Amino acid sequence: MNPRLVIAIDGHSSTGKGTFAVEIARRLGILYLDSGALYRTVTLYALQHGQIEWNGTIQERQLQEDLLLGRVEIAVRPKSDGSMLVFLDGHDVSARIRELEVARNVSAIATLPFVRNFVDGQLHRLGKEGCVMDGRDIGTAVFPDADLKIFMTADASIRAARRVKQMEEAGKHADFEEILKNVQERDYIDSHRAMNPLRQAEDALVLDNSHMTVEDQMVWLDGILRERFGFGLS
Ligand code: DC
Repeated sequence: MNPRLVIAIDGHSSTGKGTFAVEIARRLGILYLDSGALYRTVTLYALQHGQIEWNGTIQERQLQEDLLLGRVEIAVRPKSDGSMLVFLDGHDVSARIRELEVARNVSAIATLPFVRNFVDGQLHRLGKEGCVMDGRDIGTAVFPDADLKIFMTADASIRAARRVKQMEEAGKHADFEEILKNVQERDYIDSHRAMNPLRQAEDALVLDNSHMTVEDQMVWLDGILRERFGFGLS
């Protein structure tokens, strides 16, 4: 099945939006688009071109010019497991955009209005034939007329604990208090930027997954799809 459905998933950081969206894409056979990955890719471009100084200052004019003149070539390709690969100037940067240097600078890049316009335009172009897309402003700015909008949230301390577990599983040191602070800071930045801040669309369904497994979330969504569209997840 390949329903031409646009499913918009927004919410706080580390709520498992990506995991949830990839699983939906896999089960419905639709395209998954990770909007955060596009912000990360623009950040990587800026880093590679010396447009972010050591102290975090961004050379905005140069970056804006490159985006406007089409010098930043971003492409995506779906993987069979439902996830997505992202390419910058023809190179697969899916792993590089997860590195710390990108993570440190992406929030500042994502607050720039010309970056948001660029990314929103790309997302609209890539997703208009049907997709499940996750981010912060999908249901409010990118696809305000999405067929289904979901707003994900979970207690900050539960999100921090999940990240600690992920890092420990990857063999990295993780300090709970530090990560909790980072989760709270990201919530603040995402919700307080001037352009397209994170907020719940009026017609979004809230999914608080503090005490839900991924499978619980699939059961929840399956019920909603059946009720609204007459088909389920499998
Ligand atoms: O979800 P993520 O951590 O990959 O997102 C990376 C950054 O991009 C994060 O700082 C929030 C920002 N972002 C955004 O502002 N709007 C979106 N639609 C998606 C992500």
